[in-house]
Amino acid sequence: MWSYDKRLQYPVKIKNPNAALAKLIITQYGGPDGEIGASLRYLSQRYSMPYEEVKAILNDIGTEELAHFEMVGAIVHQLTKNLTMEEIKNQGFSDYFVDHTIGVYPVAASGVPFSAAALASKGDAITDIHEDMAAEQKARTTYDNILRFADDPDVRDPIKFLRQREVVHYQRFGEALRIITDNLDSRNFYAFNPEFDNRKR
Ligand SMILES: [Fe+2]
Repeated sequence: MWSYDKRLQYPVKIKNPNAALAKLIITQYGGPDGEIGASLRYLSQRYSMPYEEVKAILNDIGTEELAHFEMVGAIVHQLTKNLTMEEIKNQGFSDYFVDHTIGVYPVAASGVPFSAAALASKGDAITDIHEDMAAEQKARTTYDNILRFADDPDVRDPIKFLRQREVVHYQRFGEALRIITDNLDSRNFYAFNPEFDNRKR
């Protein structure tokens, strides 16, 4: 179970509305490499993870990603809550607005709604942790791209925090991979499975 702290993991205090930027940043709310996908990926993968230490890493990071999902939602909300109809029209927000008004909805920047098809829970320790390391780099790249469009320091500051956490998560999944491989035959971590492979080692 979880308990809830009524605060953000890192403060979000944005003064100036910016609909165009909100439409890009929302991709980390509901896009293919976004925070809700990350959270669901790790919290789902932990059930079949055979090593307790790695299960705990998935639990910790999956929980933190939920807090990041909340931060991204707060950023999008603060960027859009005080928009005038004029700004909505001029900043390219009309298509989002007609579907959701200023409700925060899990969608990619390209307009595709969130889909669990963007994540995997494969039930194999090596496979899942490799997916997770790639996922963290994809999220980091997306934050890099967002920073290329964001001038406002009120926005850049929490986005940089989120970006940095992706780097930390990548490192922690690297440690998780090490724990897994330390438990396997060091001559052939990735391919040999006596159930399916009759090669001589
Ligand atoms: Fe992450």
